[in-house]
Amino acid sequence: MRPRKLDLRDLHGSLSDPLLDAMTFLNEITSRYPQAISFAPGRPSEHLFAHERIAGYLASYVGYLQESCGYSVDQVRTALFQYGRTKGQIHELIASTVANDEGIEATPEALVVTVGAQEGMLLILRALFAGPADVLLVSSPCYVGITGAARLLDIEVVPVPEEDHGPGATAVRAAARRARAAGKRPRAFYVVPDCANPSGLSMPVPARERLLESADAEDLLIIEDNPYGFFSRDTAPRPTLKSLDRGGSVIYLGSFAKTCFPGARLGYVIADQEVAGEDGTRGLLADELAKIKSMTTVNTPSLSQAVIGGMLVAHGCRLREANAAAISFYRSNMAALLGELERRFPPGLRARLGLRWNTPGGGFFVVMTVPFLADEKALERSARDHGVLWTPMGSFYLDDGGDHQLRLSCSYVSPEQIVEGVRRLAGFIAAASASM
Ligand SMILES: Cc1ncc(COP(=O)(O)O)c(C=O)c1O
Repeated sequence: MRPRKLDLRDLHGSLSDPLLDAMTFLNEITSRYPQAISFAPGRPSEHLFAHERIAGYLASYVGYLQESCGYSVDQVRTALFQYGRTKGQIHELIASTVANDEGIEATPEALVVTVGAQEGMLLILRALFAGPADVLLVSSPCYVGITGAARLLDIEVVPVPEEDHGPGATAVRAAARRARAAGKRPRAFYVVPDCANPSGLSMPVPARERLLESADAEDLLIIEDNPYGFFSRDTAPRPTLKSLDRGGSVIYLGSFAKTCFPGARLGYVIADQEVAGEDGTRGLLADELAKIKSMTTVNTPSLSQAVIGGMLVAHGCRLREANAAAISFYRSNMAALLGELERRFPPGLRARLGLRWNTPGGGFFVVMTVPFLADEKALERSARDHGVLWTPMGSFYLDDGGDHQLRLSCSYVSPEQIVEGVRRLAGFIAAASASM
């Protein structure tokens, strides 16, 4: 049988959008140049993982079900092997963890356990965006997970350029008003307030307060995505928007990808907004998200929930403390990367080349501005001729921004690779600048 031919133009428009190709290209180039030192991926370091611990976590979860929840052997069997509750089964453990780690007081019923934060983004967007007039504001440059999800759902996205310390409340407000004046309904603003991907920026506390006030004034919901908050270099963690939220505007997206491990594909949404039905009934936004989830992934795999649930139990629902080694590794890697950049590009050379980079208060990412075009072709040359990989910033912008910027991630490299990688990067930058 000959395979039937389909025309890409007949498929959904998102499939021809370069946005959805950006990740494929990065994966492909990484596999083509396995010897290259990679500052490209936002992956966690694998030295933090040990497969032997997985069985222990599973046992901790089973112990919790039997001892704390009074489950019989049959009930444990059902919990692990059977289809599960749509909103998830470790919601109570997660609610305790976010209370301990972030000071977020959420009722377990307001939680939806998802297949990564990524699924949470899809559920939230599908639920909130009712028609073509609804637009999503995003802090720009922006994580491709949300802009890609919006593209899949044909949701219009309006970028709000970040300022020196992340998004500014006045700019968000102005963007909401402009959208409204153009006949649109600005529905929500997506932001990563701590150690953002890709910019690395963190919002100061007063800016968080102002953003919340503006959201209330403009009737905007805020989608707060917080996968990197633990890895701030500040000694005292900054409060999440959700913990500061008095007006009930914040929908919180959590991910266990960086604080536990990404192989579990586990995340969650806290959606405690009240939804009034036509018949006067009231429920939670989380319940509406669950309806959508029932038609997408049905429920988040019980085994993943059991392993992460076991980790939460084993660490007394305090992941921040459990992440002490990871926090210190990423902090010291960020310091090492910034130090090496400083060493390889002293101020005189930097000024001559027209080179600069930011100094994030933590997280995985540094953004460097270069004098030449930092696109996929440049990345290919960097990998082939200099053995070093990074991420072109262009795909994080919806307009034509970022074409002279590259994102450097410090999470998936060893301290030794940072030294050698920056040496290689310097070689690439010298060559690219010379051939301009
Ligand atoms: C901004 C942002 N949100 C969310 C995630 C994690 O998503 P998930 O839990 O689906 O792995 C990432 C990971 O790269 C991210 O950078």
